[in-house]
Amino acid sequence: MREDHRTQHQRNNLSIVTTLFTRTTAYIAVALLSYALGYLSRSSPPQPTQAPPPPPPSVFQLANFPTQLDNFRITAHCSNSPLPPHLVFPTILDRVFNGSSPYTNFPSPHLSPLIKKKRTKSSGSMDAVFEQLIKRVKPKVVIEVGAFLGSSALHMVNVTRKLGIQTQILCLDDFRGRPGFKDIIMVNGDVLLLQQFMQNVVYFNATDSVLPVPFSTGSGLEKLCEWGITADLLEIDAGHDFISVWGDINWAYRILRPGGVIFGHDYFTSADNRGIRRAVNLFAEMNNLKIQTDGNYWIIDTAFAK
Ligand SMILES: *[C@@H]1O[C@H](CO)[C@@H](O)[C@H](O)[C@H]1NC(C)=O
Ligand SMILES: *[C@@H]1O[C@H](CO)[C@@H](O)[C@H](O)[C@H]1NC(C)=O
Ligand SMILES: *[C@@H]1O[C@H](CO)[C@@H](O)[C@H](O)[C@H]1NC(C)=O
Repeated sequence: MREDHRTQHQRNNLSIVTTLFTRTTAYIAVALLSYALGYLSRSSPPQPTQAPPPPPPSVFQLANFPTQLDNFRITAHCSNSPLPPHLVFPTILDRVFNGSSPYTNFPSPHLSPLIKKKRTKSSGSMDAVFEQLIKRVKPKVVIEVGAFLGSSALHMVNVTRKLGIQTQILCLDDFRGRPGFKDIIMVNGDVLLLQQFMQNVVYFNATDSVLPVPFSTGSGLEKLCEWGITADLLEIDAGHDFISVWGDINWAYRILRPGGVIFGHDYFTSADNRGIRRAVNLFAEMNNLKIQTDGNYWIIDTAFAK
């Protein structure tokens, strides 16, 4: 009986010890597990859902970190020696047109019936701003980025003739217009905008003063820079969306002669601060330049510091 009691007592003790042991093991196991989990979760990469993303920087914050926006992939280096103005046209004829003028034997007999004798039209192309800037800059080389039918280029020819200034005008444009634009005849999918532009130049007897560079603005400006071609006066009037203007103005600025003027149309448009104006403002802010306006034009005269 006593033996039984002892045995029972020992059994109870044993079971307490066992329970204690199991509990302790469990605590240790839990502790180890939590340590391991803590360690694991600490060493694992941060979960994207845990921290709210920082708010996007404002335009003006970005402007304080130019490297974030100054990310053009520059594959070609600009020439260190700018070409003298009288070599600009010969260089374009040589590099772009394989040595002969695109106006030679233009228009060909098959082309003549397809284009109009003259077809110019462009809002703002006759604005007084051209004459004011040409009087101010007396440009030897003008580069127009976005030329369309050549109305403003031909207007500039008129102004320079009137003022007696010898000016060469390069018109950089892909001469595609825009998809769905049906005013210019298309042959097998090829819109004849370059041909109509050239016909307009021929009509106004301006083939000695105006030369098309029929490539996209980005690739064209990169090449002009590489060949050492610089402009005294640069007009930006190609794509009107932020990304296009931002690219054009940054590329074009590299080929602006120090002290030259860069300007463009449609500063105040319905796109408001999302298109041209945003790109121009940001560009001026980052480069510490001052913007002047004349009607719907923006003008940056690098002769005047901010
Ligand atoms: C460039 O002109 C040369 C002759 O001056 C001619 O042999 C060559 O075929 C021309 N190249 C092209 C792409 O038209
Ligand atoms: C250039 O001036 C002449 C004479 O004033 C005018 O007839 C012509 O339309 C003008 N051309 C352009 C493209 O402005
Ligand atoms: C172009 O020159 C021709 C020949 O000199 C002349 O007859 C014509 O009136 C000129 N056209 C323009 C638009 O100046």
